[in-house]
Amino acid sequence: MLLRERIDDEPHPTQLQIFATDIDASALAEARRGQYPSAVERQVSPERLVRFFTKRGDSYSVTKSLRDLCIFTEHDLVKDPPFSRMDLVSCRNLLIYLEPASRSASSSSSTTRSDRAGTCSSARPR
Ligand SMILES: C[S@@+](CC[C@H](N)C(=O)[O-])C[C@H]1O[C@@H](n2cnc3c(N)ncnc32)[C@H](O)[C@@H]1O
Repeated sequence: MLLRERIDDEPHPTQLQIFATDIDASALAEARRGQYPSAVERQVSPERLVRFFTKRGDSYSVTKSLRDLCIFTEHDLVKDPPFSRMDLVSCRNLLIYLEPASRSASSSSSTTRSDRAGTCSSARPR
């Protein structure tokens, strides 16, 4: 949503493609559904709810235009070859799942194999 909003403000919007990856197939299946309970109303602004979601009964579904930006795929950050040509690699609370050695390996793998990539993570390794 943030990237869509930012890019749509540009005079010549950049093409956006998001690889949403996880080692856990069931987590990916849930993410692919793009369906959220009504509690999402407390977490997402009214403007974004209108723009990016469709209300269906008691739940909200992500709009097709937002959903189509994402390719969901299984990927083990430690064992699988890294993706290349990424502009940004973002990991949300991933590092807490990894052993210290894997943390540093995954971090260096994301940055060295990604073109122009910035990285961000919402959890710091201890
Ligand atoms: C806090 S969850 C974040 C899930 C989701 N990406 C999000 O942003 O809501 C961290 C995820 O890291 C995944 N994970 C753990 N080890 C991994 C690995 N080696 N490679 C890829 N994903 C991994 C877990 O399956 C878990 O779903």
